[in-house]
Amino acid sequence: MICKDELKKITIAIDGPAASGKSTTAKLVAHKLGYLHIDTGAMYRAITLKALDEKIDLSDKNKIVRLARTSTIRLEVENCTTKVFLEGIEVTKRIRTQLVSRSVSTVSSYEGVREVMVQEQQKMAASGGVVLEGRDIGTVVLPKAELKIFMVASVEERARRRKGELTLVGIEANQDDLIKEIEMRDQKDSTRAVSPLRKAPDAIELDTSHLTIEEQVDFILERAKEIIREKGKS
Ligand code: DC
Repeated sequence: MICKDELKKITIAIDGPAASGKSTTAKLVAHKLGYLHIDTGAMYRAITLKALDEKIDLSDKNKIVRLARTSTIRLEVENCTTKVFLEGIEVTKRIRTQLVSRSVSTVSSYEGVREVMVQEQQKMAASGGVVLEGRDIGTVVLPKAELKIFMVASVEERARRRKGELTLVGIEANQDDLIKEIEMRDQKDSTRAVSPLRKAPDAIELDTSHLTIEEQVDFILERAKEIIREKGKS
């Protein structure tokens, strides 16, 4: 924990495609800085889960937007893990199923859903000392973030990582299916009309295909510390 001084608290935006390593990296960076980690993808996943549970037709935009406006999602960070609550009930594991993964791109493509989520995320980030990860953090949620990172990695490597994550929570998945699913999500996330996934012009691109988690985290921490030092001088 190097950053206790309120004045030196910066905002860090980490964006990138599915399974590019954002979550693990953002979590560790936040932990090392004593910052709050906000996994914005988990928020879109929670709304998607609620829509599936309530058997709402995902193509019914109005119903989904209404659902987003009336739902309560809470993120709790404890010992470097984020717990996700939907209407007060923990759904951390349930939001990671393949059904949710396959459905979330549709839900997150609706402008009304994004408006609700972005507002919440901006509120959570208002006092600084946060690491937000997602698809549109550097471009839409926090366009003035002091540090923006855009993480990329090859689709094969991303599928391998996702398989590992799923195995850890007891879900077996096929590597080829995962590649297809990731490619489909990349396509949907980067071609949607509202806030598509793209690198902010002032973001640093970080290709993690051949990096260890430790190297990724160190790279970002170095940049963050430089900015914090500069901020401390002014
Ligand atoms: O990071 P993830 O795979 O858990 O994200 C789930 C989905 O949510 C992803 O397909 C795109 C969407 N998403 C988004 O549109 N904007 C964000 N800021 C975060 C996630």
